[in-house]
Amino acid sequence: MKDNRHITMGIESSCDETAIAILADGRDILSNVISSQIEIHTVYGGVVPEIASRHHLHNIPFVFDQALEEAGVSLSEVDEIGVTAGPGLAGAILMGTAYAKAVCAASGIPLIGVHHIQSHIMANLIEHPELKPPFISLVVSGGHTHLIEVKGYNEFRILGCTRDDAVGEAYDKVARVLGLGYPGGPKVDKLAKEGNPFAIEFKRVYLEKDSFDFSLSGTKTAVINYLHKEEQAGKEVNRADVAASFQEAVMEVIIDKTMDAAKMLKCSELAVAGGVASNSFLRDKLKARCDKAGVKLYIPSPILCTDNGAMVASAAYQKAKLGLKSDLHLDVYPGLSIESGLSKLDA
Ligand code: KG4
Ligand code: ZN
Repeated sequence: MKDNRHITMGIESSCDETAIAILADGRDILSNVISSQIEIHTVYGGVVPEIASRHHLHNIPFVFDQALEEAGVSLSEVDEIGVTAGPGLAGAILMGTAYAKAVCAASGIPLIGVHHIQSHIMANLIEHPELKPPFISLVVSGGHTHLIEVKGYNEFRILGCTRDDAVGEAYDKVARVLGLGYPGGPKVDKLAKEGNPFAIEFKRVYLEKDSFDFSLSGTKTAVINYLHKEEQAGKEVNRADVAASFQEAVMEVIIDKTMDAAKMLKCSELAVAGGVASNSFLRDKLKARCDKAGVKLYIPSPILCTDNGAMVASAAYQKAKLGLKSDLHLDVYPGLSIESGLSKLDA
């Protein structure tokens, strides 16, 4: 028997996590199952798209059953199914959307395609019901580095984005040259705690005055060049100092620009999103700067920062409240814009 809770399922498969969650009333996490392929891709030093797709195909039915079982919910109780339709790896997204469409076709449950970055941002609403648009969001993940004005639950304006590497990508590359393995972000974060962030002055790139775009590859390359130079000179490198100094350089620029954006928009609420939002240095530094500037800071718990199904369900729940849904022709959009592409997902 269905009770009066509103039940949303969220399916995420845009990169290397097969994740399905069930939310009640858009906020209560009844289950949040994440099947990570990290160990499989570690051998290759990064995500191999074709292998990711095949593992999603294999894992989805198990993750789906487990999500319903852990939630204690039957499929007939689900009010809508949200699924990531882009951006991300085409083949990986296709596995999630094909599965979601098949379930919706067979059961008659409404389908809601969502944008991956929108989901990362909406992860903040799960633990913070008081957060309501408008606010600004710093999105920092393996594939994205964006400053976004969140004008509504399904309306976004890009203030700036990276012109080269995403911040997670830069972390992963630095981790690789430091011999830390994949995924590098958490490993650099951990090692940096033992190092001196002011030991080495790595390049910081601010671009044009008033630009909210980022350029992070120069800092990454500065780290690589430093390591080569020291190695050629036969010097011993303090890897913890390198990790800490890289982190200080990259995060200083990101935090400065974020605070400038909040000031320019006279916005007193900032929500951080994406896998790199679980970085302890960013969390601490940003909190101190926001406290000083009178800006209220929201950051999801680490498990809701990296890819998960709960964030997809949160975004789908908000879209359902706006009366938005997709039809069963929902396509895959590997390069979907959060500013101009969202209407492509709606029926
Ligand atoms: O959001 P996410 O799970 O996937 C994408 O949508 O890209 O982000 C994954 C990225 C990886 O680059 C990973 O190294 C980074 O987030 N990451 C971190 C930390 N935890 C994950 N980077 C820095 N510090 C962390 N603690
Ligand atoms: Zn992500």
